[in-house]
Amino acid sequence: MSGTDHELKTVFVKTYGCQMNVYDSERMTDALATSGYAAVDSPESADLILLNTCHIREKAAEKVYSEIGRLRRIKEEAAESGRAVVIGIAGCVAQAEGEEIVRRAPVVDLVVGPQSYQRLPELVARAAHGRVVETEFAVAEKFAALDRPAASRPGRHAAFLTVQEGCDKFCAFCVVPYTRGAESSRPIASIAAEARRLAAEGVREVTLLGQNVNAFHGEGPDGDAWTLGRLLFHLAEIPGLDRLRYTTSHPRDMDDTLIAAHRDLDALMPYLHLPVQSGSDRVLAAMNRKHTRDDYLRIIDKVRDARAGMAIAGDFIVGFPGEEEADFEDTLRIVDEVGYASAFSFKYSPRPGTPAAGRDQVPEPVMAERLARLQERIAAAQAAFNASRVGMTAEVLFERPGRHAGQIVGRSPWLSPVQVSADAALIGSIARVALTDVGSNSLFGRVVGKAGADRPVVEATA
Ligand code: SAH
Ligand code: SF4
Ligand code: F3S
Repeated sequence: MSGTDHELKTVFVKTYGCQMNVYDSERMTDALATSGYAAVDSPESADLILLNTCHIREKAAEKVYSEIGRLRRIKEEAAESGRAVVIGIAGCVAQAEGEEIVRRAPVVDLVVGPQSYQRLPELVARAAHGRVVETEFAVAEKFAALDRPAASRPGRHAAFLTVQEGCDKFCAFCVVPYTRGAESSRPIASIAAEARRLAAEGVREVTLLGQNVNAFHGEGPDGDAWTLGRLLFHLAEIPGLDRLRYTTSHPRDMDDTLIAAHRDLDALMPYLHLPVQSGSDRVLAAMNRKHTRDDYLRIIDKVRDARAGMAIAGDFIVGFPGEEEADFEDTLRIVDEVGYASAFSFKYSPRPGTPAAGRDQVPEPVMAERLARLQERIAAAQAAFNASRVGMTAEVLFERPGRHAGQIVGRSPWLSPVQVSADAALIGSIARVALTDVGSNSLFGRVVGKAGADRPVVEATA
């Protein structure tokens, strides 16, 4: 530590919401480490407690307030023993609610929006002397700060890398364009430098993150705006980075370079998370999705033509205002037509400030019933997808020990967990696994050899 008069302090960060928050939490911890904060894994022992929050549905946002209630007691107990604790709210609730948070929960000392984390050390220092609310959209500054090398996290074999933030799509249900602001992309050189650092640390798989990642348009070394597809071709050249993924995409932005990347790059895993939200054209229009059911299905066909055996993942909302039974049945049908490998599904949650929030709402019991039917259909699709993998040999990146002794767990190219009985020394490497069986969520198999450049990522065994 530098020769300042402050002693070593501790920070606890709790993360809610999407992968981008996971990435941001790591970067917040790194920024605070430069001003002497060490990360701890319980709030009771921390001098600074940060909640990195999510505003996507009402339940997610309300969780934050019940957690603040718990933290208030921790702060009061610490104060009794003469220790000051700073409570900070970061993330999308911070951006959406700003001052309102300290009005509703006066125990909060600091509110910091997702584009201002580079200012954390200074904001935290100020918050010790009085409330601070910072919700500027300083995304260029945030991206520039990401050029500072992150702390190395040994033992990690797969990592996230944010390449794009924000969204200009304005789906009628969604808060993201308001909480994360307009679409903005990191420059190629900055992304490639971070990817090289990760590879040097032993990371074998990188997932590029963005709220609307395939709208990526980062500035290339040639001064042109590069597409996500072009970025993927570039990153695939980095030695040691064996696997690339990206998430989450919008159907409107599946351009030809991205489809070519799926066709030509072995490193790009045969997996695509492409939310559709509804299978009904009427509902899609009311959602302002800017695509039809048929547009979506045609894109899936194109991607599958480019790369055989692609796993498709999706997101669905049931009970969007105006959704009738017939619309919902169109949604059920699209699940069968696509044959999803996995999908998330949610009841529509009206969000303050979004266009759909003021429309006539579908009654809760109707939503609950539709969600149950949809989830049953999705589970069947997922089971069928997994069953179709049995008999194939696929490369698996082993990431951690399994629940039972002698077992290790990794990810298939399609992102599903794969469990095998094998030596823990394989963790961190990619091996060829003959897939023999399916469980409820994972695949089982046995290791049959090393991954090799001369062998395909997936092959059907005779
Ligand atoms: N940027 C990503 C993810 C957005 S949030 C994308 O565009 O795909 C993740 C998912 O949450 C969305 O795909 C949608 O299915 C769901 N979601 C968003 N807003 C919602 C709301 N108001 N109510 C219910 N689900 C919502
Ligand atoms: Fe939200 Fe995704 Fe729609 Fe953007 S594209 S508004 S992030 S659901
Ligand atoms: Fe939630 Fe914000 Fe991510 S609202 S889903 S944390 S972008």
